[in-house]
Amino acid sequence: MNSLEELKSRFQQEMESSSSTEDLEKIRVAYLGKKGQITDLLKGLKDMSDEERKERGRLVNELKSEVADKIQQRRAYLQKQAEEALLKADVRYDITLPVPETVGTLHPITLVQRELEEIFSSMGFAVEDFKEVVTEFENFEAVNIPKHHPARDMQDTYYLNNGQILKTHTSAAQNFILRKYGAPCKAIFPGRCFRNEALDASHENTFFQMEGVMVDKDISISNLIYFMETMLSEVFKKDITVRLRPGFFPFTEPSFELDIQCPFCGGTGCATCKHGGWIELCPCGMIHPNVLTMAGIDPEEYTGFAFGLGLTRLAMMKFDINDIRYLNSGNLKALTQFNTL
Ligand code: FA5
Repeated sequence: MNSLEELKSRFQQEMESSSSTEDLEKIRVAYLGKKGQITDLLKGLKDMSDEERKERGRLVNELKSEVADKIQQRRAYLQKQAEEALLKADVRYDITLPVPETVGTLHPITLVQRELEEIFSSMGFAVEDFKEVVTEFENFEAVNIPKHHPARDMQDTYYLNNGQILKTHTSAAQNFILRKYGAPCKAIFPGRCFRNEALDASHENTFFQMEGVMVDKDISISNLIYFMETMLSEVFKKDITVRLRPGFFPFTEPSFELDIQCPFCGGTGCATCKHGGWIELCPCGMIHPNVLTMAGIDPEEYTGFAFGLGLTRLAMMKFDINDIRYLNSGNLKALTQFNTL
């Protein structure tokens, strides 16, 4: 057997006995690395006569590519074997195991959001989703809050390097939704909002709102009251009385704060309503003509209402959660008690 044949059969034996990709890499280096045996053979060609070099060079180069191919095939084989061993060893992949008794729970906000979506869908509202990163125009200008307007101070937020911001309220979607549907339009759009807030038991920097708009001919505030009373009575499973107090938002005119008579004490006063009998729940109002115009709707022909329900606060109220910080905490003990899937 000549030296090339010997080398080839030694390589073959070593390669076949390799049991991991690490072993294989050592073999590759021993044969094809900078100081490897085949590399040495190639280096030795320069000391041969032209005639010898031609023949020997062909044989060594053939051997080199054969060895490289075999290493590649062996590597693929060993990797596949390692993956199969991992699958066998990892109990999470054992589909024959019995299903655990609890498979997880929905987050309290998801539960309330889904309930509201169902209620509003049954009243003919479309359910829309909207992005979390928005332009300043969408968040402010499109809802009648020009640059330097003092209302911006109440909604300080997080700015990205490209000038976009994390939306401070679901009203940032109003322009998009009104343009998408035109008039008439009935839609709700829940979403995550962000504000640079001082945190306490009722303020988070990340929370959920659910916006609703209804635009048509002759829409008035009594339509708003009707829809809110119906929705809240469904959520709390009892008749709910609401009242409106004057409020201020640049994108509604007139603007209101909608309070509900405390569903827990019926208005006589308890800890939840801080003994006042009423709970502030939902800012709302008639959509400002400028907002309609900016969305391409003629305010002479159409009117509409908008509301911005604090979804997180509603979930807290419904499930009697006294600190908002539990909701983003990832504390499963706190979050898994409400419902199972
Ligand atoms: C707004 O965000 C208006 N865009 C609502 C609106 C929509 C008015 C359409 C008129 C027409 P406000 O900043 O008050 O308004 O927030 C609305 C609700 O979001 C609050 O009532 C509260 O329930 C909730 N909210 C606001 N800030 C926080 C916070 N930091 N943590 C938790 N909930 C919050």
